[in-house]
Amino acid sequence: MDKIIVTGGKPLNGEIVISGAKNACLTLMPAALLTDEPLTLTNAPRLSDIRTMTDLLRSLGCEVAALQAGKVLALGAERIASTRADYEIVRKMRASILVLGPLLAREGHAEVSLPGGCAIGARPVDLHLRGLEALGAELDLRDGYVHAKAPNGLKGAAFELPFASVGATENLLMAATLAKGTTVLKNAAREPEIVDLARCLRAMGARIEGEGSPEITIEGVERLHGATHRVVADRIELGTYMLAPAIAGGRVELIGGERALLGAFCDKLEEADIAVEETGRGLAVSRRNGVIRPLHVVTEPYPGFPTDLQAQMMAMLTLGAGESLLEERIFENRFMHAPELLRMGARIEVHGGTAKVTGVEGLRGAPVMATDLRASVSLILAGLAAEGETTVSRVYHLDRGYERLEDKLQACGAQVERVKG
Ligand code: EPZ
Repeated sequence: MDKIIVTGGKPLNGEIVISGAKNACLTLMPAALLTDEPLTLTNAPRLSDIRTMTDLLRSLGCEVAALQAGKVLALGAERIASTRADYEIVRKMRASILVLGPLLAREGHAEVSLPGGCAIGARPVDLHLRGLEALGAELDLRDGYVHAKAPNGLKGAAFELPFASVGATENLLMAATLAKGTTVLKNAAREPEIVDLARCLRAMGARIEGEGSPEITIEGVERLHGATHRVVADRIELGTYMLAPAIAGGRVELIGGERALLGAFCDKLEEADIAVEETGRGLAVSRRNGVIRPLHVVTEPYPGFPTDLQAQMMAMLTLGAGESLLEERIFENRFMHAPELLRMGARIEVHGGTAKVTGVEGLRGAPVMATDLRASVSLILAGLAAEGETTVSRVYHLDRGYERLEDKLQACGAQVERVKG
């Protein structure tokens, strides 16, 4: 297994181009199942999760061509050959559940493996299922699969999500585009990836209003047509690289970064005395006075502070001038990076969903282990500031969500290298 070795202590200077969003692309690709015409996605990220989704869609009969070195995905589901999403693919990536709504809406039936457990939490899909039942689907959970059918098609309905789940909102939004009548999703998730999905679906002929607000209205149509859609920038990749100069010093410009995608996060960075400038090409980040002020951070659904940046923010706060508090309110087990940061000399106490971080003068390099995608990159960030070498193992987690991470950081002067395992 590959490892990444980071030699820390060097300030970063340069620019990083932000890629298309993994979490947008993973819901845009299944949208291709809603039409028999081609869907083309530009600005696609080149990640192992995108390849897993490609395998899944191909197993259903959808053609997927990766053009221009993978930056353009040409999808075509002229005919759905199978409506069964197999456990062997679904177990690799939970987002596979996002084929359920489109398959059911287009074909009137689907057999999708349940995703199973995850390192950061139980992550059930009950809200996806209850929402589809509200649209008239008949569901049967059997042998680890959801067997879903809607022989007369789905019917529009009002459904209030008990929790603003991103995935459930995406699945129901896609399913409702072909349902008979009008669907109203209340307490819907408002993430930029959902706004991007709604834009793409509208380009395919869907009738949608209210995306980005807690209430989305979808008027079902007979059929959808093909379209070309540019994948929105990856706000989590953006936030991750904004923390690199904050933690290691220097100044980095993030090309394609937009403050609007990360309002709450940028506010917190400025509260920590980190400068966030809007440039003509994106955002530039640097320490204002060399000091990192302590923070109280609470993760929430968008537009609140994103849980996918909690681990990276913790890495920065290990060097804060005082005591910080991080409250993880989205996932029940998302502090697994803390014990690894302790190995680098950080001072962190975790009690349930709250972590108290007491800033230290400096971190020291150490061998550490990645446990999930965002935890792994928080260890890379800590390594950029640490004295000596940090060796991060199990970096396959990282490759799921960060395109060419070493190249991007090296371009800013970081000493980061991958060692093939
Ligand atoms: C999406 O996951 C993202 N993944 C996650 O990013 C992100 O952390 C999460 O949204 C929250 O922002 C993708 O977009 C592929 P949720 P999703 O449904 O859709 C509970 C990353 O690092 N819940 O909003 O699975 C659930 O257990 C990944 O890129 C139910 O109880 O998130 C969790 O506690 C990690 N029942 C909370 O809601 C349900 O049916 C949020 O889940 C659905 C969710």
